[in-house]
Amino acid sequence: MNALLSVSMLSADFGNLARDVQAVNQSAADWFHLDIMDGLFVPNISYGFPVVAAIAQQAQKPLDAHLMIVDPDRYIDRFKAMGCTYLSVHYEACTHLHRTLQHIRKSDMKAGVALNPHTPVELLEDILEEADFVLLMSVNPGFGGQQFISHTLNKVSRLKALILRKNLSCQIEVDGGTHAANAPSIIQAGADILVAGHALFKDGDVRAAVEAFKNNTPPL
Ligand code: DX5
Ligand code: ZN
Repeated sequence: MNALLSVSMLSADFGNLARDVQAVNQSAADWFHLDIMDGLFVPNISYGFPVVAAIAQQAQKPLDAHLMIVDPDRYIDRFKAMGCTYLSVHYEACTHLHRTLQHIRKSDMKAGVALNPHTPVELLEDILEEADFVLLMSVNPGFGGQQFISHTLNKVSRLKALILRKNLSCQIEVDGGTHAANAPSIIQAGADILVAGHALFKDGDVRAAVEAFKNNTPPL
């Protein structure tokens, strides 16, 4: 598939993290997706900077950090220092989103806005120029292994139309509950990047799962 695949490490085996990072390195996946959760913005705590550093040390693909935290401005510089290339913050967690996205871009990272399932894409009308990508949550944030929320396809199409109308090059990332079977419809709707975790780690062979995922989806 020409669409990119970003592997959510939330579903990795943290008792064998180096092994799983190597497996992703050796796979056809495109990015490492790092889900940072603070137990406030979402009802779960995932992992912090020591784990990000451990992954970054071995990762041979770009780091795509997804901040599910309150007041993410506090840590933009830290994620840059950790080697992140893509950094998304939640629309719902930012009081001054325009300033936050400018800060991410000034730090020489690609700036992403993440939307929870209930947040309409139309709210991005006046901020889309400041974003390099939009992350559409296709599950309720906080946990891996959930069911894909099918209404997300409608949001992808509406967001794609908005991007085209404004003549922007903003990419669309869809995050949560994706797998080889639903990937074609997500891409058909207009997604450029898919995030998958459970689907890639559940059978214990990341490389094969990535192959299956990539082979089953049409070019963009
Ligand atoms: C959920 C995270 C997602 C999730 C994706 O809050 O943002 O990245 O880990 O994993 P799966 O593919 O298991 O839904
Ligand atoms: Zn995520």
